[in-house]
Amino acid sequence: MYQVELVETVAKRTQRYGGSATEIKAEIVTDYVVFYGRALKNQNFETGYFDAFAGSGWTDTGSLEAGRSVALRVLEAHDPLAYYAFNDISAQNAESLREAVEDLRQRRSQQNIATPVTRITIQDGNAAIRDACAWVRESYSRRAVIFLDPFGMQVDWASMEAIAQTGRLDVWLLIPTGQAINRMLRRDGNIPPSWRARFDTFFGDPGWSDRLYTPSPNLFGELDPERVAMEDIERYVIDRLKTIFPPGAVHSTGLRLIRQSHPQFLLAFACANPRPAAYSLALKAADHLIERAQRP
Ligand SMILES: C[S@@+](CC[C@H](N)C(=O)[O-])C[C@H]1O[C@@H](n2cnc3c(N)ncnc32)[C@H](O)[C@@H]1O
Repeated sequence: MYQVELVETVAKRTQRYGGSATEIKAEIVTDYVVFYGRALKNQNFETGYFDAFAGSGWTDTGSLEAGRSVALRVLEAHDPLAYYAFNDISAQNAESLREAVEDLRQRRSQQNIATPVTRITIQDGNAAIRDACAWVRESYSRRAVIFLDPFGMQVDWASMEAIAQTGRLDVWLLIPTGQAINRMLRRDGNIPPSWRARFDTFFGDPGWSDRLYTPSPNLFGELDPERVAMEDIERYVIDRLKTIFPPGAVHSTGLRLIRQSHPQFLLAFACANPRPAAYSLALKAADHLIERAQRP
């Protein structure tokens, strides 16, 4: 298990969110990147890690001390990847993260440990996803993990399609099933046009309302739209991912992240590599980590 070591010298810009679900998510993605580095280390691949919603480096999950973001954790993996790219839309978060990475680099160099090449950008996450796709496409030998950890519905479907089309990215994606989707799916089905447009861009499928509402008879025998259950929302999102990733390369359930007894997010996993040997191994590792997190 990953040890949290706090660095008190850095001016930390902590972000308040999460709770234990945040730590579960961080452990899964970090451990997956560790697995990835180990699995690919003796092969002739140039490996990378992309974090399109990387945050400030520090997460205040409600405990007394700030925890470290996934970006900082993966930089210290035993079998490091060749290249790390972190991005956030907030310049303040990016600066806080840059300071934390620099501090980590200095501490490690004092111990004669090299820290891999790290690039930090400030742009929309969808632009960072395009950068990741361009990076793996530049050379046939490139492979990478990409982590998409937004608060809401910021990831466009076109970005997920671009990831799937690379054939070389493994993606962990946080889907705001309870946080945003369930709230915006009004019970009466009366959704403002701007929200409908957002759902269209997010799901990449105008058929979302048919899957997320069912006709239900009211007191007058008329049919009113009724919002489906959380399980059905989750199933729909996984089904959408299955339409663009290779068959068998999407985790069948993902991991439901719960806060104060309410489902907040679904952590989904997919592998864009169409080779069965590659995606079977990736799915096996993802499944192991998800199953571990579900244990009581
Ligand atoms: C949940 S936090 C990320 C936490 C981080 N992955 C970690 O391990 O602690 C989401 C981040 O997304 C950033 N963000 C929000 N909208 C964005 C956008 N459109 N593009 C890129 N980053 C965005 C926020 O500034 C915030 O830092």
